[in-house]
Amino acid sequence: MYNKPNIITFAVMKQKVKRKKKPYKMQKITVIGAGNVGATCANVIAHKDLAKEVVLLDVKEGIAEGKALDIWQTAAINHFNTRVTGVTNDYLKTKGSGIIVITSGIPRKPGMSRDDLIKTNANIVKDVTEKAIKYSPDAIIIVVSNPLDVMTYAAYKASNKSSKKVFGMAGTLDTGRYRAFIANALHVTPIDIHAMLLGGHGDTMVPLPRYTSINGIPITQLLGKDEIDKIVERTKKGGGELVNLMGTSAWYAPGAAAAQLVEAIVDDQKKIVPLCAYLSGEYGLKDVFLGVPVKLGKDGIEEIIEIDLDKDEKKLLETSANSVKSVMKVLDDMNLFD
Ligand code: LAC
Repeated sequence: MYNKPNIITFAVMKQKVKRKKKPYKMQKITVIGAGNVGATCANVIAHKDLAKEVVLLDVKEGIAEGKALDIWQTAAINHFNTRVTGVTNDYLKTKGSGIIVITSGIPRKPGMSRDDLIKTNANIVKDVTEKAIKYSPDAIIIVVSNPLDVMTYAAYKASNKSSKKVFGMAGTLDTGRYRAFIANALHVTPIDIHAMLLGGHGDTMVPLPRYTSINGIPITQLLGKDEIDKIVERTKKGGGELVNLMGTSAWYAPGAAAAQLVEAIVDDQKKIVPLCAYLSGEYGLKDVFLGVPVKLGKDGIEEIIEIDLDKDEKKLLETSANSVKSVMKVLDDMNLFD
């Protein structure tokens, strides 16, 4: 039976109409790689209505088309308008993207480190970056492929772009894990936990308890040293914990974390986030891609923020930088970019 729309129905209808009229700040975002991470990232981008269209691209016939169609079929259910398109290797469809998220590559299996992936993934990241940038020369590139810091370096080399526009997503994911563990330990909402973390996306990453607070209250006042140390160690191995549980690497948090960087760029948020950036003297480090806090806006990295570190923190950061540099050298020795 037809019910006459009442006041409440009108209010809901008005809200939906308003949402439909939302002018998009970005026309197109491309996510390369329709594996678990890429598909999750495209899904979150669509649910946040961040662009007129999100293009999901994969080399495997049909997979991107299928996942894109599946995501698009949630639009009417979850109320978003971002069109989700899937393509098999057709870079022409990615033309004019404002942001390209690169998730391509093989994931880790139990017993593998992220660095074990370099030979295979470096060739893949180089190839997809060159193809994507041809059709979207002005795009900002966010790398998610592993080993993260060195794949960011590969995309930087392949794209020939300013390092302000080529960076890697790691800190958002790693602080997400760190905040989740702190939330569990203190029985508080993870949303109120603010945290900073430096270094490479690997076992040498440097979570910073001195820069971690719950709405301003330092966690060092709420948790004992042993407990904090345990959380820091679990965070460093957070990716590996999931690989061991699932037999492959994680996707919900990595995909959502990449989408958060996309959102910060689209909305020109000037968000302070840790991400993998090229250092040329900051923190006393040069010629290395490493996790540091930056200000992120519509043009990419607007500023690398140098925070005060004590002697121990500095040492940990240097160790992490050396570890990343040794893997960057493996990439250099592959002579992919001559
Ligand atoms: C992880 C992978 C995506 O940390 O690097 O889960």
